[in-house]
Amino acid sequence: MTSPVGLDKNMKISINDLPDMLLGAETVVPTLHGPMRYINFDNAASTPTFSVIADSVTSFLRWYSNVHRGTGFKSQLASWAFEKSREIIAEFIGADLDQQVVIFTKNSTEAINKLAHRVPLDDDGIILTTLMEHHSNELPWRQVGPVQHVGLNPDGTISKEDFLANLEKFGSRIKLVAITGASNVTGYISDIDFYARETHRIGAKILVDGAQLVPHRPVDMKPHDPQHKIDYLCFSAHKMYAPFGIGVLVGEKAAFEEGDPETVGGGVVDIVTLENAYWTDLPEKEEAGTPNIIGVVALAKIIRLIQAVGWEDIIRHESEMVAYALERLAQIPSVTIYGDTDPKNAENRLAVISMNVGDIPHALTAAILSYEGAIGVRSGCFCAHTYVKELLEVDDDASAELERQILNRDRSQIPGTIRTSFGLYNTKEEIDRFIEMVKKIDAGDYHKEWELNKEKGEFTPKGYALDFQQYYQM
Ligand SMILES: Cc1ncc(COP(=O)(O)O)c(C=O)c1O
Repeated sequence: MTSPVGLDKNMKISINDLPDMLLGAETVVPTLHGPMRYINFDNAASTPTFSVIADSVTSFLRWYSNVHRGTGFKSQLASWAFEKSREIIAEFIGADLDQQVVIFTKNSTEAINKLAHRVPLDDDGIILTTLMEHHSNELPWRQVGPVQHVGLNPDGTISKEDFLANLEKFGSRIKLVAITGASNVTGYISDIDFYARETHRIGAKILVDGAQLVPHRPVDMKPHDPQHKIDYLCFSAHKMYAPFGIGVLVGEKAAFEEGDPETVGGGVVDIVTLENAYWTDLPEKEEAGTPNIIGVVALAKIIRLIQAVGWEDIIRHESEMVAYALERLAQIPSVTIYGDTDPKNAENRLAVISMNVGDIPHALTAAILSYEGAIGVRSGCFCAHTYVKELLEVDDDASAELERQILNRDRSQIPGTIRTSFGLYNTKEEIDRFIEMVKKIDAGDYHKEWELNKEKGEFTPKGYALDFQQYYQM
């Protein structure tokens, strides 16, 4: 018999041990200047995992079997682990499974689409969202009905004043407020208590897009606090060190009990005749087909790891990282940071920094960091076009011209920034290496022969091709 892999409720892990526990921590990648250790500053997009999580998954794979209706021991164990995971996840975000349901999806995007299917709008109903949102918390709502947008303050935060003005103007026509828990571009954290309270005051419900917030701050759905509760919450495990393809939607059972699920098939019915199908109970009713059992167990295990490290240490570490990076970037005059630049506010924001270096195209800066420094960041608009356009003050004429270019498959002028985002395992030494590279870029001390792929808007060094097969066989 294989022994169970650790990560139980009572374990303690020091945050200082996490860099060594990262799977692939020592990975060396090719650059124009020879092999270098890879630095991942793209955690807001997706996080790598820890060896202890991978071990838990491997250990579980020995017991893997389909869930729910299997009669064999392995199927029973898998069903038990799957449902136990649901409880661990519910407890993690303060959900009450008597009133609420934890539904597994692929990711936050699927979760929001699923919820959108469940928000009925009558003739004059509207959805209220903000200009800060990721496309995943914008486009699904456009399919439901009219969407109104809360504007921003000059510093790029959501305007509470404009939010209240929208509540005043539209009142009970607002059925749902769909708001991000934290920005994937600037790292600003929303004042959820305030938005929840005001939303409930006008009788609407609130969805918090927790894709960025849940991995970095404790979130409590407060189901028993009618004023401050979060009616709906979504998040993605791949942004919290469990990249095994699972997302979560949590909401009041009542919202999903009546009516048809948006995806139908096996697992969602009690009985099917040629004439009828009778939906089964939640959560199965909303989880058509064989679920991602491995992904769910991995998410529960990463929650155990987060608990073993403790929020206090996590927040302290991530705040130290972002404060240190902001202090060092402030010493490079050509660097423009979008959003809060004050290191003293580090605890009140996520460790996400969007920036540009002089007038160097963001895509070129990102390419230099990768091809010359082995540093992985992200560049562009981060699926938040409207927000980035606001931050970069792109006017309507420029915006219309850009639209024309992009529709003509030319992304070479697309505005944007580079985004660095730090995780639990990143270190100050890694930031030092990043700062040295930014200084070089600022000084013009970088490779000069780049090719721009206009259609993709991406730069690659002229005459240099990567041979992935050498590193990973397919
Ligand atoms: C704020 C925010 N919401 C939603 C999403 C969508 O998450 P996913 O790609 O996991 O569906 C992201 C992803 O970057 C995000 O940052």
